[in-house]
Amino acid sequence: MSDTSQGKNATFTLTDNRNGKSYELPVMDASVGPSVIDVRKLYAETDCFTYDPGFTSTGSCESKITYIDGDLGVLLYRGIPIQELAEHSDFMEVCYLLLYGELPTAAQKKKFETSITYHTMLHEQLAYFFRGFRRDAHPMAVMCGVVGALSAFYHDSTDINDPHHRMIASYRLIAKMPTIAAWAYKYSLGQPFIYPRNELSYAENFLHMMYSTPCEEYRVSPVLARAMDRILTLHADHEQNASTSTVRLAGSSGANPFACISAGIASLWGPAHGGANEAVLNMLAEIGHKDNIPTFIKKAKDKDDPFRLMGFGHRVYKNMDPRANVMRQSCHEVLAELGIEDEPLLDLAMELERIALEDDYFVQRKLFPNVDFYSGIIFKAMGIPTSMFTVLFAVARTVGWVAQWNEMIEDPSQKIGRPRQLYTGYTERSYVPIDKR
Ligand code: CMC
Repeated sequence: MSDTSQGKNATFTLTDNRNGKSYELPVMDASVGPSVIDVRKLYAETDCFTYDPGFTSTGSCESKITYIDGDLGVLLYRGIPIQELAEHSDFMEVCYLLLYGELPTAAQKKKFETSITYHTMLHEQLAYFFRGFRRDAHPMAVMCGVVGALSAFYHDSTDINDPHHRMIASYRLIAKMPTIAAWAYKYSLGQPFIYPRNELSYAENFLHMMYSTPCEEYRVSPVLARAMDRILTLHADHEQNASTSTVRLAGSSGANPFACISAGIASLWGPAHGGANEAVLNMLAEIGHKDNIPTFIKKAKDKDDPFRLMGFGHRVYKNMDPRANVMRQSCHEVLAELGIEDEPLLDLAMELERIALEDDYFVQRKLFPNVDFYSGIIFKAMGIPTSMFTVLFAVARTVGWVAQWNEMIEDPSQKIGRPRQLYTGYTERSYVPIDKR
């Protein structure tokens, strides 16, 4: 393949060495970042598919929401750097930005916050739905089930072709997710469900529903609420990652938004994706002591051992994860606020980070700590149980999922997602009756 022209109307020339034929493929330019080769007509013209398991070289859609430069460690929401949003903005404003494309005015922000606040309660019958789960169910299992079940409770917002329905469903999902998450936790403890309170911010409300009981109101620390808000901001969107692509693929068939987000939650659960924050803590517990770090580093480098250093590496970031840098700083603030000076887990994590960053294996493969490496430590310090870590990721990512889902439905070139394959199985053969096998 070769690039035959530059700028507008640029094309790639593809030559099929089997028959000497050449094909011109259009190149589409990005506003920033790599261009893409438009292969939509490739199969019709060449009778060949492209092959890219894991989509390492494939753009699956056009999007205006989030931009990542993996080499420079840049993450932009609607063009604005994540560091600026983490420092100056808040999660509600970020939700508005992701959904509508622009920062809100003060009046728009107030209206948006009020609308989200008024959707935080769950249909009362959902409380009975929770009771169908075992008490020891993983809260991500509860999240998948309850979020999927929302489509059975909110029929009036499932017409995906109606923009108003789509927006109501989006608001409902963003608003109800913390309530569902906190109730999943309360259910595991056997404590009564705590209802949302309208005077609290999004992050405060979540902490209130997690930790208040009917006997005692939980006083939310502003520093912890701010840290939680920042964590939500950092996780709000991340372009076409596995769970977002799952939401888009599920939605491409016309499935309702609650079902699509439930599919996204299932994809997020895996330890290679959102489940990594929980896996980091489990790994640190398993390592136990600084003296054991070399053994685990050796395991991570051993090709015959499936063990990986959790919280290290990223498909796109090959220099640093900008979210991890903000999270690292937040981590120290939270520990200071809580008066935790000597946190053995943090010491262990810092030592692991130091050793891994100096090791040739990690340096050569550009494996750096990612956002999940630090988020787990902050959550632990805040008293959030380990099994709830990925749930919090899901709460934060919901706005990204719904923004991407809305963008997909509005895209005039949208089609059902239907990848093809390289078939390497049997060619046609006859059925053999059971007595002849
Ligand atoms: N520990 C040890 N080796 C690793 C690790 C790791 N954490 N991550 C990648 N490698 C090695 C891998 O074995 C391969 O080596 P080689 O070239 O010798 O075969 C090389 O690095 C490239 O890895 P890859 O699997 O081809 O990379 P990928 O882009 O497919 O995977 C990843 C990215 C994030 C799934 C992977 O780095 C990983 O499993 N990390 C641990 C889980 C984790 O922390 N996930 C959270 C990601 S950030 C939050 C999110 O977006 O969900």
